[in-house]
Amino acid sequence: MSKDTVLFLFFIAIFQCFLSTKSYNSGTGIIPLTQLHHDSLVSLPVSCPPPDRSLYYQPVIGILSHPGDGAFGRHSNATGASFIHASYVKFVEAAGARVVPLIYNEPPEMLLKKLELVNGVLFTGGSVKDGLYFETVGTIFKKVLEKNEARDHFPLYAICLGFELITMIISEDDNILEEFKAKNQASTIQFVESAHIEGTVFQR
Ligand SMILES: *[C@@H]1O[C@H](CO)[C@@H](O)[C@H](O)[C@H]1NC(C)=O
Repeated sequence: MSKDTVLFLFFIAIFQCFLSTKSYNSGTGIIPLTQLHHDSLVSLPVSCPPPDRSLYYQPVIGILSHPGDGAFGRHSNATGASFIHASYVKFVEAAGARVVPLIYNEPPEMLLKKLELVNGVLFTGGSVKDGLYFETVGTIFKKVLEKNEARDHFPLYAICLGFELITMIISEDDNILEEFKAKNQASTIQFVESAHIEGTVFQR
């Protein structure tokens, strides 16, 4: 290696160190996985603090809050109130991720900032299909598509209402969903081959 090359590598090393130090000090403790992978590929002789794997290698998932207090006016009738059922948080945490709430009516720039910091998003079930909530779902969905199209693997998991809203957005038709009575409708459960049902309520 020529002297110039060594000097050049040295500057890259200093720059990398500066970048990661900035991230460590950002206060949120959330570092996009893409950036981490990038850092770990660079093996230059620098003395950056070693990454704490237990702290940084769990993905962070944003869950969008739903309008209301989640208890039909029992806790709050405030118009700006929103909630996330604890079960969604536990569901994500049980898979080893951490959760950041995305508040549906927080300022758009705050929401977009959060989307840059999380590794994926979850839309919950619920009932609201219009107004600011629907708009926010649309904004996030658009961002998710943009990220994936730019080859930034960014998963979106939508449950029940969340899934309905996606069909409305993609079809650009608010009436895409038709009424369907499923009461007393019998259907069979198809188990995948690897399912272990012995000793569960599904075993006959
Ligand atoms: C919200 O409004 C409903 C209907 O007026 C009322 O029954 C309920 O007590 C209110 N809840 C709270 C927390 O104020």
